[in-house]
Amino acid sequence: MSTVQESPTAAGSGASASENFRAAAERRTAAGTSPERVSAIVTAVLRGVHDAVREHQVTYPEFQAAKAWLMEVGETGEWPLFMDVFVEHVVEDVASTTQHGTKGSIEGPYYLPGQVALGSTCELPRRDDERGDPLVLDGQVRALDGTPLGGALVDIWHADADGYYSGFAPHLPEGNLRGVVTTDAEGRFAITTVQPAPYQIPTDGPTGKLIAAAGWHPWRPAHLHVIVRAEGYRPITTQLYFAGGEWLDSDVAEATKPELIIDPQDDGTGTRRSTYDFELEPF
Ligand code: DHB
Ligand code: FE
Repeated sequence: MSTVQESPTAAGSGASASENFRAAAERRTAAGTSPERVSAIVTAVLRGVHDAVREHQVTYPEFQAAKAWLMEVGETGEWPLFMDVFVEHVVEDVASTTQHGTKGSIEGPYYLPGQVALGSTCELPRRDDERGDPLVLDGQVRALDGTPLGGALVDIWHADADGYYSGFAPHLPEGNLRGVVTTDAEGRFAITTVQPAPYQIPTDGPTGKLIAAAGWHPWRPAHLHVIVRAEGYRPITTQLYFAGGEWLDSDVAEATKPELIIDPQDDGTGTRRSTYDFELEPF
């Protein structure tokens, strides 16, 4: 273990999240949204703000503090964190009303494309001294009608035993605890990794300050992120949570679903194993 490590900061992870978001801008355009729709949505958002001002008799000092805070969210690059923790779950909820198969959940700000390609039985890249109980997630990717999907991709990423994501914390090697797993001919995969810790919104940035000022808690339960893809099928972006895990019932990002909880069991060697099958809907 290294004894001296650079602590990740909100500004650091915020800036990386903003940079990463911009790099993926080509999948973030909504050029087809009509002026009528823009007007309807923005009018509704502003009405919500105006209603809050009236209902709570917001004062000038509070209004100016809100402006200063919004400026800080931009300056520290925390918009991706803020939007994904407080808004994305509702967008996902709406999207999920038209998607069948495995339940989706939010992507969050820490997905990075282009990670190492791994075979169906694999270990995620990890440090020699990576902490966390060994964890194996195995399962099968199938179509809704039960057809096994060989050659499907399970793009997986998760936080380490301290709750930090590689690519967004300077002390972690690139690609740590990330990989793109290809299923075998029967659609099966078996991924060895380590148990992630719960994730805490960085407390030193504006999102953390808001959470503290409001007296909320900044935690998400421990989770594994996955995007499962197969040609001809709608990709599914989701997360798996752990039975009995802390913050499961009070996720700050409100992104848990009962169907997404796994319950890994010790196989007698100290390795905890769980099976989860993914079902994809054809396009
Ligand atoms: C955030 C972080 C996550 O790891 C996640 O899964 C969702 C949201 C965030 O900081 O916004
Ligand atoms: Fe996450």
